[in-house]
Amino acid sequence: MIQDFNNILIRDCTKEDMEAVSVLEKEAFGKQAWTAEQLKDAFLRNDTLYVVAETDGKVIGVCGVQNICGDGEITNVSVNPDFRNCKVAGHMLDYLIENGKKMGISAYTLEVRAGNIPAIKLYENAGFVSEGVRPGFYDNPKEDAVIYWLRF
Ligand SMILES: CC(C)(COP(=O)(O)OP(=O)(O)OC[C@H]1O[C@@H](n2cnc3c(N)ncnc32)[C@H](O)[C@@H]1OP(=O)(O)O)[C@@H](O)C(=O)NCCC(=O)NCCS
Repeated sequence: MIQDFNNILIRDCTKEDMEAVSVLEKEAFGKQAWTAEQLKDAFLRNDTLYVVAETDGKVIGVCGVQNICGDGEITNVSVNPDFRNCKVAGHMLDYLIENGKKMGISAYTLEVRAGNIPAIKLYENAGFVSEGVRPGFYDNPKEDAVIYWLRF
């Protein structure tokens, strides 16, 4: 299935996208990014859904979810820095949430660095609500994780 806005396509990820996805994740998370192998293993699982954003044949965003007994754990969200603040992630998330429901996901959850304002805005705009904090969860730099849920 495909969604289109401002010449940007939102569609299911394919194995041909994995190299571009790995570059995006490295750009967004540096040394803490998942390796290409970890991303490929996650993508190939039958309990995951990966979605990409594409424009002019170039992959500019990715997000992924794993279905854990009906809870969708959102594991990866990143957008090419040149395309941020244009609602690319917002559209990918909408697509992921709608299509995840078809896999039996009835609630979504994720963790985010407490100081990651763009990500927090993104999730709150999509209806996620903070349900707790894991103090000092992240390293380099040390930071709390905020736990968000979207329940239906
Ligand atoms: C988080 C990320 C995926 C958002 O992607 P995006 O396509 O820019 O997201 P959107 O445009 O849909 O939404 C971003 C929101 O943050 C807001 N925002 C961005 N920078 C901001 C800032 N410095 N201060 C306040 N708000 C900010 C935008 O205005 C927008 O909110 P709005 O729609 O209400 O105006 C992107 O910044 C990214 O790849 N970051 C690095 C990886 C990352 O942190 N991933 C999330 C891990 S949990």
